[in-house]
Amino acid sequence: MENIFSGRTFAVTGGFAGIGLAVVQSLIRLGAKVHAIDIAPSAPAELENHSSVFCTPNGNVSDIAVCKAFVDSIPGDIHGLVNCAGVSPFEDKLASYDLYRQIMEINVTGTWAMATEVIRRMLEQEQLQCAAGCGIFTTAEKSLGQGSIINVSSGGGFRGIPTKAVYCASMTNTTLLNNVAQGEEAREKFINTAKGRIPMGRLAEPTDIADCIVFLLSDAASFITGQVLPVNGGTD
Ligand SMILES: NC(=O)c1ccc[n+]([C@@H]2O[C@H](COP(=O)([O-])OP(=O)(O)OC[C@H]3O[C@@H](n4cnc5c(N)ncnc54)[C@H](O)[C@@H]3O)[C@@H](O)[C@H]2O)c1
Repeated sequence: MENIFSGRTFAVTGGFAGIGLAVVQSLIRLGAKVHAIDIAPSAPAELENHSSVFCTPNGNVSDIAVCKAFVDSIPGDIHGLVNCAGVSPFEDKLASYDLYRQIMEINVTGTWAMATEVIRRMLEQEQLQCAAGCGIFTTAEKSLGQGSIINVSSGGGFRGIPTKAVYCASMTNTTLLNNVAQGEEAREKFINTAKGRIPMGRLAEPTDIADCIVFLLSDAASFITGQVLPVNGGTD
């Protein structure tokens, strides 16, 4: 596994905490260069001064211009994008319009905007490769398998979660009426309920998810595309 990503460059959103941070750390350990963007004002200590990590703090992915500037700032080819930036606030019984908009703009618009800018770059990369000569292949044929985009979703995209109706909708198209519990009490209740439903009896660590993302970005997953891969400890 050592250096399997040597010479490759990846973009990671939400790279300063949680799953995104675990992804950044795994990728650099495996030899990649990583450009990480996050709305947080500063990068965590473990990323600062690392020669293979380039951090963009104060970067709001729900702003399309920010996504474009971030992608434009990455030199050379981009081999993959991991969209980890996301929010899942408790929404009470009915989310306000402002909260609805905030969740949708980050989880949906942000994911779409960053992917669109990266795909634009990947298409340019392909044209350059073809201009250098791609034998008998047409541009369309050559375009297969030129880069990876991984969007981190949620089990909430498959089933409802009490107090997270808009969040669930932002992770796919399902919605559900919210429960009433709020605040710390709701958080604890939520975590205990979630744990009880997971056959492996524990919540995921960020590295559990990062390991799967590393696999999907690697050559070992070169014939996997357009799939949803649940990493959920066996939850139905
Ligand atoms: N942790 C879980 O158990 C879990 C489960 C299912 C799905 N998810 C989803 O996975 C994704 C990552 O989750 P996590 O647990 O790592 O969350 P996290 O809160 O630990 O990290 C998210 C990161 O995204 C950044 N961020 C938030 N809004 C942003 C914005 N507008 N622009 C740029 N960066 C922004 C945050 O600053 C943070 O660094 C989220 O979409 C989350 O909903 C997480």
